[in-house]
Order: sequence, then C-alpha cells, then structure tokens
Amino acid sequence: MTSPILITGAGQRIGLAFASHCLEKGTPVIVTYRTRRPAVDTLEKAGARCIHADFSTNEGVATFIDQLKAETSTLRAIIHNASDWLPESPDTAPAEVMAAMMQIHTMTPYCINLACRDLLERSETGADIVHMTDYVVEKGSAKHIAYAASKAALDNLTLSFARLLAPKVKVNAIAPSLIMFNKDDDEAYRAKTLKKSLLGIEPGESAAVEAIEFLLNNPYITGRTIGLDGGRHLV
Ligand SMILES: NC(=O)c1ccc[n+]([C@@H]2O[C@H](COP(=O)([O-])OP(=O)(O)OC[C@H]3O[C@@H](n4cnc5c(N)ncnc54)[C@H](OP(=O)(O)O)[C@@H]3O)[C@@H](O)[C@H]2O)c1
Repeated sequence: MTSPILITGAGQRIGLAFASHCLEKGTPVIVTYRTRRPAVDTLEKAGARCIHADFSTNEGVATFIDQLKAETSTLRAIIHNASDWLPESPDTAPAEVMAAMMQIHTMTPYCINLACRDLLERSETGADIVHMTDYVVEKGSAKHIAYAASKAALDNLTLSFARLLAPKVKVNAIAPSLIMFNKDDDEAYRAKTLKKSLLGIEPGESAAVEAIEFLLNNPYITGRTIGLDGGRHLV
C-alpha cells in the first residue's frame, strides 16, 4: 500500500501545485484547507482526501490530528506548507501578531510532527517531513518581524526533529524567497522584487514542487535547509 502525503494549506498556490503533482503521479494525498476554494473541489475530484483545518488554535490542531488518524495509520511525508504573512501594524497588538505567527509556523508543525511520528515510521517506502520556511530566516525582515522569527523557529525544528526521527524519517526545510507574486502586487513592487535575486525571475510553483520532490527522493539529506532564492544572498 502506498502511504499518503499530507500537505497543509493546499487550497492554493504552492501547496495546491504539489498536491496536483502528486495526484498526477498516482501518489495519494491528504490535504488541509481553511478556505473552501474551487481548487479544493478539483483536488477532491482528482482523488485527494481534503480535510478542513484551522490551525489558529491548539484545539483546531488537535481536532485535525484526530481526523487525520481516523483517515490513515501511515504517512509517506508531511509537507508543512500552511502559512500566513502578517506584518506588524498599528491596528493589531504586537502580542497578537507574534502569537498568530508562532501558532501557524511553529506550534502547528511541532504538534503534528510529534503526534504523527508513528504514522511516518510505519511507511514502508521511507518517510519525510518538509518545513516550508523563508529566505528571511537568515536576514530578518523589518516589516514582518514576527513572521521571520516564527519561520526561524520552524527552521530550528528541522534540526531537532531530524535528530529525533533519524534514521527512519528525514526532516528538511525549504527556504524560498520570491516564488510567485500575489495578484495585487503592482508593477513597481514586482520590478523592485525581481532585482533582489541574481537570477531575477519569478520561478512559479514548479520550482517549489521540484525542490520538495528532490528532498523526498534523496536518501542522504536530513536536518538541512535548501535555499530556493535565485541567489538572493549574493546580491
Ligand atoms: N510564494 C512565495 O513566494 C513564498 C516565499 C517565501 C516563502 N514561502 C512559503 O512557502 C509556503 C507556500 O507559500 P504560498 O505562497 O503558496 O502560501 P499561501 O498562498 O499563503 O497559502 C498558504 C495556505 O495556508 C493556509 N493557512 C494560513 N493560515 C492558516 C491557519 N491558521 N490554519 C489553516 N490553514 C492556514 C491558507 O489558507 P486560506 O486559503 O484559508 O488562506 C493558505 O491557503 C508557505 O509556507 C510560505 O511561507 C512562499
């Protein structure tokens, strides 16, 4: 039996692209979504098990883990993709911003990884955890301080879970910078952002899909972070 891959926050963009890629290859997937977008219906029709999950509270995370365990006793991989990009803002108390960022990027993967250890260890074809972090882990961000800190904590979880779960489960992170613009990004922002990397392109979801696939297929990488950033650190 092929164990399914769990992808969090797969209702759009990178998570959706990786889920679609898996289904095209015949790999079973369980995806979580918070907002029911038309793409979730499409994934379901293509064979994905789609579970509504809101990770903004510990109760929401615990409910999801119970639902997941009712669906499957084994997992080939967990892709921690769900994310929010809250900026610091005069409208929101700093403690609220930090709590929300730590909840989605650190608390949620931490609880899911610990709860799913036995599911991953039952996979007969190897097992992986992939944490989607961010380039800002190494540089910080003046406008997204809590976001950057929470992704840095997620990056650190990569090290601890790699130690804990070896040799049965490999645990790695992918740290993207620009993969794809948001719909409402204007031309000036796009031009400025493209200049931030050596390669100067918007690579699209496929670059992230290939990086995840590479980590799942490679037998000798664990506890590492792959920079997916067009050489941004050299500009
Ligand atoms: N795209 C890029 O250029 C880029 C750059 C750097 C890092 N990354 C990282 O790569 C990953 C994928 O990026 P993306 O741009 O494809 O992400 P995205 O479009 O922001 O999608 C993330 C998904 O996470 C879900 N989510 C957010 N908060 C949640 C919560 N509390 N509970 C449950 N689900 C929640 C969202 O659900 P809703 O649909 O309800 O909003 C959304 O569909 C993320 O981890 C991101 O930080 C991406």
